[in-house]
Amino acid sequence: MKGKSRAVGIIGTGSYTPPRVLTNFDLEKMVDTSDEWIRTRTGIVERRIAEPDVPTSRLALLSAQQALESAQVEAGQLDLIIVATVTPDMFFPCTASLLQHELGAGYAAGFDMLVGCTGFVYGCAVAREMIGVGRYEHALIIGAETLSKIADWEDRNTCVLFGDAAGAAILGPVEDGRGILTYSLGNDGTNADALKIPAGGSLMPTSEETVAKRLHYLTMNGPEVFKFAVRAMAQSSLEVVERAGLSMSDVDLVIPHQANLRIIDAAAKRLNLPYERFVRNLESYGNTSAASIPLALDEEVRGGRIKSGDHVLLSSFGAGLSWGSMLVRW
Ligand code: UT7
Repeated sequence: MKGKSRAVGIIGTGSYTPPRVLTNFDLEKMVDTSDEWIRTRTGIVERRIAEPDVPTSRLALLSAQQALESAQVEAGQLDLIIVATVTPDMFFPCTASLLQHELGAGYAAGFDMLVGCTGFVYGCAVAREMIGVGRYEHALIIGAETLSKIADWEDRNTCVLFGDAAGAAILGPVEDGRGILTYSLGNDGTNADALKIPAGGSLMPTSEETVAKRLHYLTMNGPEVFKFAVRAMAQSSLEVVERAGLSMSDVDLVIPHQANLRIIDAAAKRLNLPYERFVRNLESYGNTSAASIPLALDEEVRGGRIKSGDHVLLSSFGAGLSWGSMLVRW
């Protein structure tokens, strides 16, 4: 079923990171780890941590306001708000509803997207279709996380990896031939256990026992996710480039999910692309899950490193295990 769809692109970006910095040396005092291990195994040097009384919606709001300003779109012009997050303020209402009110976004439709680190790419794909068919004009897509609230600060396997941040994008109609050219989304639930919060849902409601066993914190099989990540990012990146009728050498910039420098390195090798074409900012922020791609994208846009006509490839993976790549002509 194929109808005529208008071109939809990213017309503004924004981001926010909390001011508090937690370095690898700070972590040495908290768990049995070392700056050397974290740097060499992940590439992370420091990360930002939100204060205990700052919820995800606060980070999301500040990034959204910046994105609206850069797109020169008023909050009242928004038709749709999608918040990609695994750390919503609460199970429900969704974070998008809170933001609709805080931004003064009319009666914009909104929902949260719970696809782990891949959520921002999923959100952009959904909004692209809704705007593409002419149903909506402007959508706000946010990736926002306070992973510090679900990290187990006694587990060195995970707590050293994550940080808090938000990144936002405004999507709207653009001239033909530009914008989001195509995307590839997928899921492989056979490995769903590799990355999860075991308790707190309907399968294992929170109880004194789940809390005592620390099952309300994030757990991860790192090496399993690592292997999947390299494969999924490479495959889905190739897929979108082929679908757009281009080749990898046409890609000017890749914005990969910022989880581990070694994952980015391995993906670059598989795609036979120079390492310099891959954006890396995880040294400063760690893995910020759904916020990682929009945060990196905003830094590149503001740094003037994306030029009109550039082909920008966004590529992510995460809980599910899920993947999502998207090719944009700026
Ligand atoms: O956004 C999606 C979610 N996450 C990811 O993308 C993460 C993907 N995975 C990874 O990035 C890597 O697998 C990790 C960074 C998590 C781990 O790196 P690895 O090279 O796969 O190490 P490993 O899990 O095989 O562990 C190696 C050793 C273990 O010690 P033994 O059993 O060999 O003695 C760990 O206990 O490193 C130990 N280790 C640590 N040592 C010092 C694990 N965490 C730490 C730590 N400090 N923080």
